[in-house]
Amino acid sequence: MSYTFSIIKPDSVRDGFSDQIIARINNNKFKVIGIKLITLNKTTAEEFYSVHKTKDFYDNLISFMTSGHCIVMALEKTNAVENFRQLIGDTDPANAELGTIRSLFGKSIENNAIHGADSDQNAKKEILFFFPELANLFK
Ligand code: CMP
Repeated sequence: MSYTFSIIKPDSVRDGFSDQIIARINNNKFKVIGIKLITLNKTTAEEFYSVHKTKDFYDNLISFMTSGHCIVMALEKTNAVENFRQLIGDTDPANAELGTIRSLFGKSIENNAIHGADSDQNAKKEILFFFPELANLFK
């Protein structure tokens, strides 16, 4: 088994799309092994997205991600990272394949409904960031 990490972003939670998004995740045979409703504060968002610190979209990203509730999830499936990235689609909803979560619920590249880890290494790092209690998964 392998693992990935996801965030249902504030726009999706605010618009009431969380249930539909989670249903899609379940229907695609991901097992939700951790789930929390959280509100990111500026410090936590800046730490989580520190890799993007030099990008011109960074300030908007931080203010968007701290604008409301998020749902963070640790997910289990064979080849989880790649399968999940296929399920959510391209970062820019305008380029996302039809039927993917971002094509259905994303509004723009900045407000793109959902985050998915981009590698096994980052999935582990991101899961441990929000779910330190799941450390045993990686032992
Ligand atoms: P996410 O998967 O959460 O990882 C970083 C986020 O930054 C990404 O989704 C997008 O929402 C945002 N992002 C990435 N590239 C751009 C870009 N070129 N312009 C604006 N936002 C971006």
